[in-house]
Amino acid sequence: MPISSQEVRKKYLEFFKRQNHEVIPRSLLVPQNDPTTLFTSSGMQPLIPYLLGQVHPNGKLLTNSQTCLRSQDIEEVGDNRHTTFFEMLGNWSLGDYFKREQLNWFFEFLTSEIKLDPKRIYVSCFIGNEEAGIPKDTESADIWTQIFTSAGIDHDQIDIGTEENGARIGGGDKRISFYGDKNWWSRSGKAKDMPVGEPGGPDSEVFYLFPNVLHNPEYGDKCHVNCDCGRYIELGNSVFMEYLKTESGFTKLPNKNVDYGGGLERISAAAIDSSDVFRISLLWPIIQKLEELSGKKYDSHTVAMRVIADHIRGATFLAADGVIPSNKEQGYVMRRLIRRAIRFAFELGIEQNFLEDVTRVILGLYGEDFPDVKQNSEHVIATLAREEKIFRQTLKKGLFEFDKMYLKGTNEGHQLVLDGYGVFKLYDTYGFPWELVVEEAYRRGVGVTPEWKKDFDNAMEEQRSRSRTATRGEFKGGLADHSEISTKYHTATHLMYRALRMVLGDHVIQRGSNITAERLRFDFSHPEKMTSEQIQRVEDIVNEQIKKDWPMSWREENTNEALASGVMGAFGDRYGDRVKVYTVGDPEGEYYSREICGGPHVDHTGQLSDGGKKFKIIHEESSSAGVRRIKAVLN
Ligand code: ALA
Repeated sequence: MPISSQEVRKKYLEFFKRQNHEVIPRSLLVPQNDPTTLFTSSGMQPLIPYLLGQVHPNGKLLTNSQTCLRSQDIEEVGDNRHTTFFEMLGNWSLGDYFKREQLNWFFEFLTSEIKLDPKRIYVSCFIGNEEAGIPKDTESADIWTQIFTSAGIDHDQIDIGTEENGARIGGGDKRISFYGDKNWWSRSGKAKDMPVGEPGGPDSEVFYLFPNVLHNPEYGDKCHVNCDCGRYIELGNSVFMEYLKTESGFTKLPNKNVDYGGGLERISAAAIDSSDVFRISLLWPIIQKLEELSGKKYDSHTVAMRVIADHIRGATFLAADGVIPSNKEQGYVMRRLIRRAIRFAFELGIEQNFLEDVTRVILGLYGEDFPDVKQNSEHVIATLAREEKIFRQTLKKGLFEFDKMYLKGTNEGHQLVLDGYGVFKLYDTYGFPWELVVEEAYRRGVGVTPEWKKDFDNAMEEQRSRSRTATRGEFKGGLADHSEISTKYHTATHLMYRALRMVLGDHVIQRGSNITAERLRFDFSHPEKMTSEQIQRVEDIVNEQIKKDWPMSWREENTNEALASGVMGAFGDRYGDRVKVYTVGDPEGEYYSREICGGPHVDHTGQLSDGGKKFKIIHEESSSAGVRRIKAVLN
C-alpha cells in the first residue's frame, strides 16, 4: 500500500514529538489577531508574537499541521502542484535548537520516515545580501555537505543568485544552490520589502527531483531547482528567523528561531513518487468523484478537475472556519472559489447541482483528523449548496439576458456581434462570469469580436476609476459632522493612532473610526485587553503632542510611495493612485505622524487643549475577535 497523506501527517507530528516538540492546534483560516492578511497562509503566522520574543505557553519547541489558504495562487491552480488550500507541516524552535538540528531532522524525516530517495534530494541556501549586511549562509551549506557526505551523495555547490540567472546558466546537477531573494523568507517576501517590525531570515529549501518530468523551455532556457517547469518540486523550507527589520536596517531578534514549513500535499506526493499532487489520498478521491459525476476521465480533463477539487476543498474549510460567501474580504474569495469551480464544471458537462456530493467526499477525507470540521458538516454543506443555488440563478438570468440581447437581437437586419463592452455589461449588471459569456456565445453561434478582451479590460478599468472617484467624494474619515469640536477629535484620533503603535506595536491597524461632538471612537487590531499602564502611556504621549503644538498640514502624494515610506492607513481601505496625506509636524523635517486621510484637522495640535482640556481614554473594550475599541474625550 502506498503511504497516505494522513500517515505522512501523523509520522511528521510523531517524529517531532520524539524530538520533544509539543503539538499545538491549528489556527483558523481567518487570522484572529492579525488584520494585515485575509487568511492564514503559513504555519508561522499565528506564532508571530512568539517569534518576536514573547513566551509561548507550550514551550520553545512546537509542531503542528496548519491549514493554509493562498488566494493569490488561484490562477496558478491547474498545474501539477499548486493548490490554494493546503496543510503546512511546521516545526518551530523559539530560541532553542538552530540550523544543525533542523536540517538533519528534516533530512532524516524525509529519508527514514517516508523513505524518499536521498539521491533525488536537492537543497538551496542564502547567498547573502550586502546591502542589508547579511552574510552568505555557508553554515547551512556546511551542514548539508556533512549530511550528503554521510549519505554517500555527491554535493557540489553553485552560486545562482536570481531565477533569471538560473534559467540562463542552469543548476546542472549541483546538490547545493545559493540564491538571493529566493532564500530569504518573511511574510512580505524580500528583505527590502519588509515593513518595520517584521521578522525574517535566510532560509534553506529542500527540493525533490522528478527525473521523468522533462524540463520545459517555456519556463526558461535551462532548468534549476527554482525553475517553474515542475521537474524539481519544493518540499519544505527551513527559515532561520533571527532578524528584525527596524527603521535603521536589520537587527537581531531576541532569539535565534527556526520556522520550518512544508506542504503536506507535496511531501505526500513525493512519498508516492508522483509529481502530481492531485494523486495523493487527500485529493484523489475528489477527482474520482468528479470522474463519476461527469463520466469524463482525469487524463483528458486534468486542469478542470484539479481546479474544482482544489477550490471546493478550500471552500469547505472556509465554511468550516466560519466564512460565508459574500462580496467582500474572505467571503469574496470564498465566493470566487465556488463560482470558479462551478464554471469549470461546465467544461466537464456538469450543469446540475453537484457541490453537496463533492463536499461530502471532502468531509469524509478530513472528518477523522479534524473533529471541528466534522462537527460543522451540515453547516458546511448547506453553505456551499446555498451559494451554488444563488450562482445558478445568476447564470440563468444572465443567459436569459444574453439571449435577449444577442440571439434574438438584430441591428438593421445584421446579426449582433458580441464585443468586450457587451461582455462587460452582462458581467457588471447580471454577475455573469465573463469567461462564460464568451463560451456561451461560441456555443450559440454568436460572433465575438477579436478584440473583445481588450475592450472588456478597458471597460473594467473605466469602472474602477469611476468608483475611485466616488469613494474619494464620500470619504470623510469617519466624521459625523465638521463642527469645531469634531475636528479636534479627528486630530486627536491621529495623535492616538500613532501613540497606540508606539506603545503596543506595529500590528495596531485602524479598523474603524467614528466621531461625534461628544467623543471619538476608534477600533484597532490588538489581541488583548490593554493594561492600565498602557492606557496611561498612550494618554501621556497624546497630551505631550498637544503640548508640543505641532503644525498640521496635508499634501497629495503618490500612494505607493506614501505607503512604502510608512504613512499609516486604515485596514481594508482601497486608495487611488494619489492620496491626501496629513502630517503632524513637518513632512520634510521632524514629525510625529503621517497618515492617509481626507481631513479636516486643526492647524496646530495645541488647539486641542483650548480651555485647559486634556485627552483622556474613557473606555477600552473588545469590539470583535482581535479588535479593540477605545472611546476617548477631550475634557
Ligand atoms: N514560513 C515559512 C514558509 O512559509 C516556513 O515558507
